[in-house]
Amino acid sequence: MKKVALVGYGYWGPNLLRNYMEHPDAWVQWVCDIRPEALQKASARYPAVPTTTDYQQVLADDDVDAVAIATPISTHFPLAQAALKAGKHVFVEKPMTGSTADAVALRDLAAEKQLKLMVGHTFVFSPPVQKVKEIIDSGELGEIYFVTSTRVNLGLHQKDVSVIWDLAPHDLSILHHWLGETPESVSVAGRACVNPDIPDVAFVNLRFPSGVVAELQVAWLSPIKLRRTVVVGSKKMLLYDDTESVEKVKVFDHGVDYRDPQTFGEFQLSYRTGDIVSPKVSGSEPLFLEASHFVECLETGSCPSADAEAGLAVVASLEAADYSLHHGGVVQTVQAEGATG
Ligand SMILES: NC(=O)c1ccc[n+]([C@@H]2O[C@H](COP(=O)([O-])OP(=O)(O)OC[C@H]3O[C@@H](n4cnc5c(N)ncnc54)[C@H](O)[C@@H]3O)[C@@H](O)[C@H]2O)c1
Repeated sequence: MKKVALVGYGYWGPNLLRNYMEHPDAWVQWVCDIRPEALQKASARYPAVPTTTDYQQVLADDDVDAVAIATPISTHFPLAQAALKAGKHVFVEKPMTGSTADAVALRDLAAEKQLKLMVGHTFVFSPPVQKVKEIIDSGELGEIYFVTSTRVNLGLHQKDVSVIWDLAPHDLSILHHWLGETPESVSVAGRACVNPDIPDVAFVNLRFPSGVVAELQVAWLSPIKLRRTVVVGSKKMLLYDDTESVEKVKVFDHGVDYRDPQTFGEFQLSYRTGDIVSPKVSGSEPLFLEASHFVECLETGSCPSADAEAGLAVVASLEAADYSLHHGGVVQTVQAEGATG
């Protein structure tokens, strides 16, 4: 039985608590939050789980194997660093830190202490995302040309971070996972529509070393909720729509073939619109799969798939995107300073 302490019981923390409590090999040893009213809610739900406003009490408990952090982004680094220094394994929500330098420092500290450091890239554990990864890796889509993704709704405006840091970690972690590479450059057009200091809409353009280009639309302002990604390949095309209850993934045998011109100035295109197939996808909850993976890594000593390196790659892309957003959309190189992979 692995003992996990949850830190942060706001919007997302209750989901982590439920999933760790439902796991047969995990027990939540503490719920910690600086707000007593949040702890009252946790106690009402799980009376057997002790609560505290004092993080040091959690770190001083020798029975705690790991700390799961679901607090605001600016607190990820100090809380994770303190946990690693206290000899605890760490699960930290996305994005891993608020800067590339902090991500590098955290990664290096975890390696030095030989402790697990996993990031909450929840979508990487989602069955439809895994299915798309399988399809891309099988070569069924052919060479990937480009990806477009829309993640918009009338969302919760964050007080401290832009929509890029809030929503784009999902799409970036998905893209890195699918393509097996991280972007080399990014340029962003965005706007702070409601709060003049906090951009709430952004169009993020990415260029990958393989030649793949991608555009991510993220916004907290939209009349409808869209979670829709299109992957266009040289052989087939794919739609992943996370708002669908069934048929979240559809593969279209559609494409355009180009034939070399026989005579000058003449080229031929042949259009193909064939079958549309929706593969079977498991309905398992991504968060439970994510929690199970962390517990398994603690039990077996294996390296998490959403590890510190994956967390660092996402933070480096976010930092470059943020820079571009605040500098008129300039094309910014993504630099994971000190990154090895
Ligand atoms: N994986 C996902 O799909 C997903 C979804 C939503 C949010 N998140 C992430 O979860 C994290 C939390 O987001 P949220 O929306 O729940 O935020 P929130 O503001 O609703 O909750 C944060 C909680 O942390 C507490 N807190 C702040 N500083 C603390 C400290 N030093 N010690 C203990 N508690 C502290 C606050 O009192 C609050 O209760 C963020 O990193 C966010 O990006 C992930």
